[in-house]
Amino acid sequence: MTGIAVRVEALEMVYEIDGEQVHALRGVDLEFAPGESIALLGPSGSGKSSLLTLLAGLQKPTSGRALLDGQDVTAMSERALLTLRARDVGVVVQGPARNLLPYANAEENVRFAQRAVPRDRRGRLRPPAELLEGLGLGHVRRSGLGALSGGEQQRLSLAVGLAGAPGLLLADEPTSQLDATNRAHVVDMLTAAAADGATIVVVTHDEHMAQQVDRSVHLRDGLVVP
Ligand SMILES: Nc1ncnc2c1ncn2[C@@H]1O[C@H](COP(=O)(O)OP(=O)(O)OP(=O)(O)O)[C@@H](O)[C@H]1O
Ligand SMILES: [Mg+2]
Repeated sequence: MTGIAVRVEALEMVYEIDGEQVHALRGVDLEFAPGESIALLGPSGSGKSSLLTLLAGLQKPTSGRALLDGQDVTAMSERALLTLRARDVGVVVQGPARNLLPYANAEENVRFAQRAVPRDRRGRLRPPAELLEGLGLGHVRRSGLGALSGGEQQRLSLAVGLAGAPGLLLADEPTSQLDATNRAHVVDMLTAAAADGATIVVVTHDEHMAQQVDRSVHLRDGLVVP
């Protein structure tokens, strides 16, 4: 599989709350090669989640562009973005429950994420049971979300993000609620996806994870810093 190239050009994100402007991103330029794995680091409020959701096309920037394999996601229609995310870009947003279908069990959540993958690519997909097993979730395969702990929901979110064997995985703090054993499961899973050719962008405060990726990018106050 070929990973997706990422290019960010002069990206700015200004939120407005109660007439006050919050400058979350102040002109970010970045380039990630296909298959590269990147850790996005920085203090709380530095703009990491804003950058990730912009790359996923989940919101529009104030200015600038974000290109995935040359396609500008900041200019795409919602419909095209839905297709892109369903087929090519796995997204795990911050806060596990937001990534999951509340009325489906663990395995059904993974299966659902695989439904939009074109037939000619289905052979590449890992069986849901195997993905869940790899993340230490074999025993809760048939459990509904209400029966899953926070950490289990977090790992399930990653299983869903990886379910379609995406060319790009965008994951926001996928280990924030996990113990050492389960953090290692997640790192193994991301390493396997990278070995498969996927480009990976992971927001993390986890030093161990940051050491496993190809490169770290540090954000501070809405800017990339050395
Ligand atoms: N939807 C929003 N509306 C208003 N302000 C927002 C919104 N999302 C983020 N912000 C603000 O933008 C800034 C950057 O937030 P962002 O969530 O990108 O930071 P972060 O680096 O992911 O932080 P954390 O490590 O706490 O998750 C913060 O000041 C935040 O309060
Ligand atoms: Mg965040």
